[in-house]
Amino acid sequence: MSQNYAAKLSHALWRIYHRPERPSPWASGGNLPWDDPDFSRRMLREHLDESHGAASRQTAERAAQINWLWQKLQLQPGHHLFDVTCGPGFYMAEMAKRGCRVTAVDFSPAAIAYAQTLAADTGTADQCIIIQQDIGQFGWPTAVFDAAILLYGQLAVFTRAEAQAILAGIARSLKPGGKLCLELLNQERVDKSDSNWWFTDDRGLWGDAPFLHLGERFWRADEAVSVERFHILHLETGQMDEILLCDQTYAIAEMTNLLRQAGFSNVAAFLDWDGLPLYDAEEWVVYVAESC
Ligand SMILES: C[S@@+](CC[C@H](N)C(=O)[O-])C[C@H]1O[C@@H](n2cnc3c(N)ncnc32)[C@H](O)[C@@H]1O
Repeated sequence: MSQNYAAKLSHALWRIYHRPERPSPWASGGNLPWDDPDFSRRMLREHLDESHGAASRQTAERAAQINWLWQKLQLQPGHHLFDVTCGPGFYMAEMAKRGCRVTAVDFSPAAIAYAQTLAADTGTADQCIIIQQDIGQFGWPTAVFDAAILLYGQLAVFTRAEAQAILAGIARSLKPGGKLCLELLNQERVDKSDSNWWFTDDRGLWGDAPFLHLGERFWRADEAVSVERFHILHLETGQMDEILLCDQTYAIAEMTNLLRQAGFSNVAAFLDWDGLPLYDAEEWVVYVAESC
């Protein structure tokens, strides 16, 4: 063991030892490093892995969602759809194949590159505008889109105030009467216990060389936030990553109110993905709301 390696390892272990007992939500980040080029490349592998639906849902499940969205958002060929946090563009490409124009935004470089390839491969490049940007800093246009989607819970990694600003931005970007579909975790189903776990792997989301993952989860009942803290120790180098992942949960009444304050009306909340056959349907609430 080199001295340098031993020093790094020792430093990492003491950092773990001295970690704050209960991290404050958003004290140091609060989202996965989706926009890190290496992480985004590894995450893309997970999006494309059809053996699970953890990053993007599997193709058959997406097909059911797309039929549902088409109907609930009253989409038609020629409509302009806004896919907020589009990931690799699976929904974008399907909606474009049905004749929509789609503006898709995400800040993961690998996901955006894949979405561009997908648009070209499906012959829909002319209908798709693909933007690599952080939605926390997006310049929302005014009255451009017929409908918008924000799927797989990503709004939850923002604080309440940031989420409110994003929802207001989406409302502004929709034409009057334009519809939003927003998917968020069902607060009643969220795990509210504190827990910790660990595993080792030689390849995965955290790296392409052996690592040790130490995970902790904290439920902050006062703020209704789930906080996960990961220490990832890279065994070949002694480097350590520390990641905080926050999930703000909302009661249905609270989110309905937030949507109204952001400029939406006719808010409908669907439990269990309205009965669609998704493996984790019961974990989610899907909101459909109309821009005023
Ligand atoms: C769970 S994935 C879902 C992707 C896609 N909606 C789907 O279901 O296939 C979440 C996506 O949100 C994106 N994302 C997270 N935070 C973001 C931010 N602040 N700005 C833009 N994109 C973000 C990530 O890069 C990732 O592609």
